[in-house]
Parts: sequence; structure tokens; C-alpha cells
Amino acid sequence: MSTSAPLPPHLPRWPLLGHLPRVRSDGMLRLMDESWRALGDVFSIDVGVHMVVVAHPEGIKRVLAGHAKNYVKGSTYDGVRRVIGNGVLALEGDAWKSRRTLMNPAFHRAALGKLTEAMAQTGQQAFDALLKRHGGPFTIDAHREMVKLTLDVVTVALFGRELLGSADISYEALGDALELVSEEGNNGLVLPRWVPTPGNRKFHRTMAEVESAIYRVIEAGRRRPPGDGTLLSMLIHSVDAETNRPLTDTELRDEIFTLFVAGHETTALTLTWLFTLLDGRPDVLAAMKEEVDRVLGTREPTFEDYPKLPYLRQVVDETLRLRGPVAMTARNVLADDEVLGHRVRAGAVVMPYFYGAHRHRDFWREPDRFDPTRFSPEASQGRHPWSYLPFSAGQRVCIGNTFSLVETVVLLAQLVRRFDLEVDASVREVQPVAQVTVRPDRPVRVRLVPRATLA
Ligand code: HEM
Repeated sequence: MSTSAPLPPHLPRWPLLGHLPRVRSDGMLRLMDESWRALGDVFSIDVGVHMVVVAHPEGIKRVLAGHAKNYVKGSTYDGVRRVIGNGVLALEGDAWKSRRTLMNPAFHRAALGKLTEAMAQTGQQAFDALLKRHGGPFTIDAHREMVKLTLDVVTVALFGRELLGSADISYEALGDALELVSEEGNNGLVLPRWVPTPGNRKFHRTMAEVESAIYRVIEAGRRRPPGDGTLLSMLIHSVDAETNRPLTDTELRDEIFTLFVAGHETTALTLTWLFTLLDGRPDVLAAMKEEVDRVLGTREPTFEDYPKLPYLRQVVDETLRLRGPVAMTARNVLADDEVLGHRVRAGAVVMPYFYGAHRHRDFWREPDRFDPTRFSPEASQGRHPWSYLPFSAGQRVCIGNTFSLVETVVLLAQLVRRFDLEVDASVREVQPVAQVTVRPDRPVRVRLVPRATLA
């Protein structure tokens, strides 16, 4: 589309360096929010690449749905491809479509009953082990503890219980892999991989650890009879509709790496940020406790309980609005286009800014306030569907969205049933840092006090 619309505005920038010094000193999120407040819903940021940020539901809809053919993952996903490989997250076109079609059934409602059982059992074991180890009240580093737990959950739910322990993949290595994606994406100046810099040595160490764990997962999957219902067996034994053959070892490696990475830290971060938002909110804590005690008593949650815990779900939804683990995504622009009256040039990178839509004053009342009840069915009526996008939207919407919502509610219910949560005052200092995911810049400490009613 040829257009004479003006280019998006930007905050003052350095010659050559653009906004890089600001990103280094204040972080990407602060620069984006400041630009957004000063310049409106479409603006640009220069950090070596020319990025056009879109913070309005209608603009995001154009990029991810209306004109999605013009906006591809392209080179914006090169960092992902170099580390995690070319799985369903990074594939495009027909190859993506056939892979997604192959994987979809593993995440359908019909599969979720069994998956929820695996989640609840894994949560139960982890929380009971913590209780046994500590006896009385104890303090956790929430991100660390939740990452270990959610890694066990994806391992058991998607690959099979017997792989717990034997896959032996460490959450530290997976966390490092995500950091590598972010470094690869940010830094065009990486020396070739054979140069023995400290960074390259870490890259090879991390990749070796993760890959050997993944190949153990594949071998174990091959030994199992087909049709055991796990995603792993589905991936190993299906025929890809595009290529008309089963997935190769490299394709399996990429897909399993993708699921390990995309499938655990995001949920762990949701719980971690949720704890920070509970600071100074005894009303929310009390309402969660009331619901869990009424619905579950001393039982463990099942898939049937999930719709009976609407308040917990609202707390999770509101956490994802304010502190979702994915603040933005990126697409390459193929041809010139116009987004909300601004020219977007071919070759630029467009960033749908989910946090902008989530806090947009035209769509949310008191957007900075943590208020779970805004997600009640009555309060949600008439909401713009593109104003709330924690899992993105359109064709490339997160495949694990329901999986993750059920998992977060189940683990939260198990926690609330066992412990009174006392959020440490130090969480007020915690700042979000956006890389690939939005992580806390320091430990989030939560004291877990075993409840007197514990059976
Ligand atoms: C709170 C938890 C989660 C959040 C916030 C989240 C967010 C997202 C977002 C925003 C995308 C779109 C990325 C883009 O198009 O650029 C995405 C894609 C994806 N997510 Fe998630 N995710 C979560 C949990 C999960 C889980 C639990 C799994 C798997 C078990 C998963 C697997 C994937 C995959 C495979 C894709 C690529 C889908 C495709 O392109 O077809 N995610 N996720």
C-alpha cells in the first residue's frame, strides 16, 4: 500500500546510537511507556533496527490479523531460530500451518482433563515435599521455585511422567537459553560461535546440556507404544501433512525445545508477578481463600473444578493484564502500510505492544489498579477483544493458552489451600525487565505459612 501518511514520531535520539543509551540505562519497558505517554499509540524506537511500536487494540489487530500477511516473523525470530530452532513458534507459511494442525489436538479441551490430572499431581508432590522439608513457615524465592515446578509440569504433562528426573533438564539451562535468544536478538555484533569468548563458551555449554536432555526425551518417546496420548508420542508418530513424512530428529529437537522453553517460564512468571500484586491486598487474599475452601475443602483440584474457581481465574487474568510475561511481540514489514494514520515502511520491525493495549485509558478504567473483578462476566461485557492480549491473538495465538490458564489456577488453588501467603515488603522495589519474557529484576520473596486447617 503506498501512503503519504506521516512517519511515526519518536523521542529525541542520539546520532547513530538512536535510543540504545536510553534502553541501556532505563530499560526497554520504561522507554516504551514514556514514548507512548508523550507521543500516542504509534511511535518509533531506534535500537540499531527501526522499530514501530503499536499500542492500540485496532492497530495491533491490523498487524496480527487484518493485514497479517504483510507482517511476518521473518528476521525478528532469527534469535529464536538460532537457539531454540525452527519449531511451531518460529515456522511460517504452510510449514507452520501443518505443524500447528498436527499439534493442536494435544491442547484441545478433550486432552485437558488428563493434562490437569498431571498438573495437579505434580503440584501436590512439590508442595507436599516443601511442607515436609520445612515443617513450619518458610520463605521462597518465588521465580526460582515456580520455574522448577512448571518445568516439572510441562515434562510430565506433555512428555510423560517417567521422564521426570530422567530427562534431567535443568531450569537454569533453559533460563540461560532464553537469555541467549534475547542476546542473539539484540546484538548483531556477536563474534562467530567458534571464537572462545566467555559468551560463546556459555552458549555451547547451555546448548549441549539442553540438547542431550532433549535427545533423551526423544529416545524415551520412541521406546513407548504409539497412541499413549502424550504430545511427545503424537509428534514422534504422526506424519507431517506438508512433507508427507514423520518429523526428523532435528524437527523433533526444535519442537521439544520450543515446548520446554515456551511452556514453563511463562506460567512461572505469571505466578511470580501475581504474588507481587498481592502486596497490601488482604481483600484479594481473603477472597481467594474463601473460594478455595468452599470449592475444594481439603481436596486437590481437578479439571471439573476449574470453572468453579472463577475468582482465582479473575486474579490470574488481571495479573496477565498488568504483568503478563510477554509484553510485546515483533514482526517484519513486507510492504509499506499505514497503521492508525502512520506510515510503516517495508523492512521496518513492528512491535505490537500488548502492555499498551492492556493499560489503554480508552478501554480500561483506572488501568494501573490491580482489580480482579474487572474480569467478572458482567464487567467484561462489551470489552474490545483486542484490548486484552496476554497470549497474542489471530492465527499465531499461543497454543498453550488454556493449558497455562488451567495450570496457573490449579497451582494457585493448591498453594492457597496449603499456605497463608505473606508477601515480603521488598516486592515494592521489584521492577519488570523485558527481554523475551518480563522477569523481575530481583528475587520476589514470599513467606508460606502452613495453614492450621491443613489435613
Ligand atoms: C502465561 C503463559 C503464557 C503466555 C503469556 C504465552 C504467551 C504467548 C504469546 C504472546 C505467543 C505469541 C508469540 C508471537 O506470535 O510472537 C505465544 C506463542 C506460543 N506459545 Fe505461549 N504463552 C504461555 C504459555 C504457553 C504454554 C504453557 C505453552 C506450551 C505448553 C506455550 C507454547 C506456545 C507456542 C508453541 C507458541 C507458538 C504458537 C504458534 O505460533 O503457532 N505457551 N505464547
